[in-house]
Amino acid sequence: MWSRLLTVVALAHGISAQNAGGTGPFRPATHTTAPTLPNHTIYHPTTAPNTTLPVLLWGNGACSADGTAFLNLLTQLASHGVFVIASGAPSGKGSTTSAVMKEGLEWIGKLEGGVYNGMKLALDRVGVAGQSCGGVEAYDVIGDKRVGVLGVFNSGLMTEAESKRVVPGLGGKKVFYFLGGKSDIAYANGERDYTLLPAGTPSWKGNLPVGHGGTYGDKDAGKFGVAAVHFVNWLLRGNATSASFFTTGNEAKAAGWEVESKNLDAIKVTPI
Ligand SMILES: *[C@@H]1O[C@H](CO)[C@@H](O)[C@H](O)[C@H]1NC(C)=O
Ligand SMILES: *[C@@H]1O[C@H](CO)[C@@H](O)[C@H](O)[C@H]1NC(C)=O
Ligand SMILES: *[C@@H]1O[C@H](CO)[C@@H](O)[C@H](O)[C@H]1NC(C)=O
Repeated sequence: MWSRLLTVVALAHGISAQNAGGTGPFRPATHTTAPTLPNHTIYHPTTAPNTTLPVLLWGNGACSADGTAFLNLLTQLASHGVFVIASGAPSGKGSTTSAVMKEGLEWIGKLEGGVYNGMKLALDRVGVAGQSCGGVEAYDVIGDKRVGVLGVFNSGLMTEAESKRVVPGLGGKKVFYFLGGKSDIAYANGERDYTLLPAGTPSWKGNLPVGHGGTYGDKDAGKFGVAAVHFVNWLLRGNATSASFFTTGNEAKAAGWEVESKNLDAIKVTPI
């Protein structure tokens, strides 16, 4: 079912060559690999910023091992002050599993003083997210107590049985869905998971009717990029302007997202 995605990923990658470092306050962002984490791609502000950086673990569409398949999106997130660890080396070949995401989580825990190349990480602010097959990988990692935030992009668990087994266990996490509307092949999966979340889970679901490929190939990942920035900027950095995108201002709706949410008032994140 998800194999069609290989095409989508290839497309996103082709266009992403135009990426110019993102538009956030910590631009330009760049990507690299750490010698101690060779099978991942790390996105961060080019120069060590005056802020601690929360961490986002990312799984690519098709579970691809190309850590630059979502270059536009992940560079944009890093330019807003997030340290992103994508599964797969830059232009890596083959595919990944959620074990690769977990390697990133273990790796940050071993950094001396939580510092990488002069950048101080906020190890109490770790999120996990992914697109399509990468979103399914993210479900495998959200259960870890070091991770508090789940972002599901054009994805959802594959079968009803899986959904019923996994999703009711997500109490205590914050869970956001970014889906591509009815023409997204993962639409029904994401919708089902959202309805199965335990009562009280702070959660949001948006559908932008562009299909499974989202807008990741657009400059700075387009409208999915805008929403993803607000997602990390609010839930990991505590940025109130970004909270408004989902809550009081509902700029998401104004931007064309069909939205639903539950218990967002319970989200309190101290600004970094
Ligand atoms: C930190 O750096 C960012 C990006 O250059 C800037 O927007 C912000 O005002 C700085 N904050 C402080 C407290 O210096
Ligand atoms: C990286 O991936 C290669 C190919 O799958 C593997 O042989 C190697 O052991 C991996 N390295 C680490 C540090 O995980
Ligand atoms: C909130 O995020 C926006 C976009 O990254 C940034 O311009 C603004 O300075 C942030 N606000 C605070 C209080 O950090």
